[in-house]
Amino acid sequence: MSDPRSELAELEIQLRHHDEMYYRQATPEISDAAYDALRDRYRAIADTLGMSEQERYGHQPGDDHTTGFVQVVHRVPMLSLEKVSYDDDGTAPDRLVEWYHGRAAGAKGSTDRGRKGLRERHDLPADADLSLLVEPKIDGVSLSCTYRDGHLVQALSRGDGVRGDDITAQVLASGAMPATVAGFAAGAIEVRGELYLSLAAFRAINERLLAEGGKPLINERNGCAGLIKSKDASSLSGKGMGAFIYHVAWAENLTIPSSQYALVRWLADQGLPVNEHARRVADGREAAAYCASFLDRRQDLGYDIDGMVVKLDDRRLHDRLGETEHHPNWGIAFKFPAERKATRLIGVTVQVGKSGKLTPVAELEAVELSKTTVRRASLHNWSEVDRLGIHIGDRVWVEKAGEIIPQVLGVAEHCGQQAVIRPETCPDCGTQAVAEEIFLYCPNPACPAQIKERLAHFASRGCMDIEGCGDALVGQLVDQRGVRSPARLFTLSAEDLAGLDLMKERKSTNVLAAITRAKGRGLARVLGGLGLRLVGEKLGEELAARFGSADALLALAARHAQGDASAIAELTALRDVGERTARLVLEQCAQAAVVAVFTDLAAAGVVLTHVGTVARAVAGVSGKTFVLTGTLPSLGRKEAEDLIKAAGGRSSGSVSKKTDYVVAGAEAGSKLDKAQELGVPVLDEAGLRRLLEGGEV
Ligand code: IVH
Repeated sequence: MSDPRSELAELEIQLRHHDEMYYRQATPEISDAAYDALRDRYRAIADTLGMSEQERYGHQPGDDHTTGFVQVVHRVPMLSLEKVSYDDDGTAPDRLVEWYHGRAAGAKGSTDRGRKGLRERHDLPADADLSLLVEPKIDGVSLSCTYRDGHLVQALSRGDGVRGDDITAQVLASGAMPATVAGFAAGAIEVRGELYLSLAAFRAINERLLAEGGKPLINERNGCAGLIKSKDASSLSGKGMGAFIYHVAWAENLTIPSSQYALVRWLADQGLPVNEHARRVADGREAAAYCASFLDRRQDLGYDIDGMVVKLDDRRLHDRLGETEHHPNWGIAFKFPAERKATRLIGVTVQVGKSGKLTPVAELEAVELSKTTVRRASLHNWSEVDRLGIHIGDRVWVEKAGEIIPQVLGVAEHCGQQAVIRPETCPDCGTQAVAEEIFLYCPNPACPAQIKERLAHFASRGCMDIEGCGDALVGQLVDQRGVRSPARLFTLSAEDLAGLDLMKERKSTNVLAAITRAKGRGLARVLGGLGLRLVGEKLGEELAARFGSADALLALAARHAQGDASAIAELTALRDVGERTARLVLEQCAQAAVVAVFTDLAAAGVVLTHVGTVARAVAGVSGKTFVLTGTLPSLGRKEAEDLIKAAGGRSSGSVSKKTDYVVAGAEAGSKLDKAQELGVPVLDEAGLRRLLEGGEV
């Protein structure tokens, strides 16, 4: 593209789109490497144009905040590490050796003035022991856990590095970290590491999801990131999540070993999960060799790693080395190359997305990548096809980095003749396609392919979570039962389901029960599920929390449609909502068709108000079931129930073996007797209050 400003504008649209997919919808379409390449290109052009930071499009990379979680400021910020990567110029091992030993000016391949070694750069004494610790870089989700007096009292995600999301209840329920550690009983400590999903756990979860007709998790890291943000923490138990702890951020009244290697051993002795492949080596050359040896071994570990991490073993030197704004100087990450292979492009088909987007999909000669056979890969959009100059018959590079949806990176060998033609019509319904920005759309909202995609999205786990209602069932409901709208799903009867091929293996009562359960998921899930443009799970939650009901949001949209300029500002007041997004959201919500969807959903009994989320999960309460009986001295029944709910617990009306606690007040009746009969612990109001404050009964 000749004009840098229009290329920049196009790159911004692409980056916005991928940020939305990655950060808001947690369904990335491209690999990290491809995303980084887009970002690098954007930065290079912006640099040439001399643009200031304010003028540039910028999304804070790596921010995992999720609406509905309480944010907590990290006592010590969670930084990341500087990295050397195979995809940069030079290979990672060479650059790691340079990081440690330095590079003489004029050395082979050097164009700069040379680089000092670690010792000289930081002015370390000649006799300082600069041994290194090398260990796998787990491709999971960063985690920080605080133990006080031996109990896990807080688990935080990385968030934006300064504030994390409180995932205490989730981490406890997952079983990834011990709830108590006897060796920490006398003090306090914040340990850090990585949560992960093993390959075995990932496969087991996906097998179940597929059997239930759901969408499988994309990959281990993505699955882990999604699961740990489950609002229903108890659903995490038995899922097989694990953690590897490798760092201590701070401690009080506990003696922490002074070498990184001894620290890992000590953490293991305390009963914390640590990685068995940590190794101490003498210098950068040995470290590079150990790192490179994992290129072959990574496939056999049973969990995903995306590189190795190299740390100065002597922790007493860490402070002395200091840190930049983004990373400490005592360590470096060694990133593995993304797996890519060349294969032949045998055709390009068109996929119709839920918003009608017509995406080119590469049909490929089968190729083995990251242990799976790849036959199809994304080409993202039609401008990308032009940019890559691809012809059918070419040999193309295909990448499956991080095991996300495979994609075509570029042409390996131009040997094809047949041009790739942009479709003029929708392949499913034949409607004339329209171009918008860099994308092509089928503008027909009644297009069956779009309807299937929309309904499957609506029913999916992150949205209305209708178990058993995946792509296959939705396809049959649309084709054979004429289902066209989300509301119609809620009025399905046993007769509607009977006779569908799929229902031979499934019980219609189960599907109907799942549909009924989904009615109460609340406005956030409905909004996220409707497939309105730019409204994903995250924005759905923000809108629901801000407006409380669909009626309030639709009223605002109506004001906007009537020309009330102040309506936009009510949306831009939300985090991350710019003017363009606000306008698009309001315009969609003012459309008669969208208003009708809400009216029909309400008529079908779907809850269209905000269902309050856990304000702050409390470890002893979260996931537990309480039964209240009798009159408590100061708390009203409703008040006590609300407090339990806000702390992540449930209250129920009857006592059973599944009841965790009965809270009894004056004139408690048969429920108290039943509790005693079943051996369910009984609390008074003071006991409940202690639990709610994070203490013991
Ligand atoms: S040490 C200052 N060790 O990789 C950060 N990090 O940029 C110290 N990671 O997001 C991190 N495995 O969450 C360290 N064995 C390991 C790791 C590891 C994975 C993640 C970490 C961070 C990124 C490093």
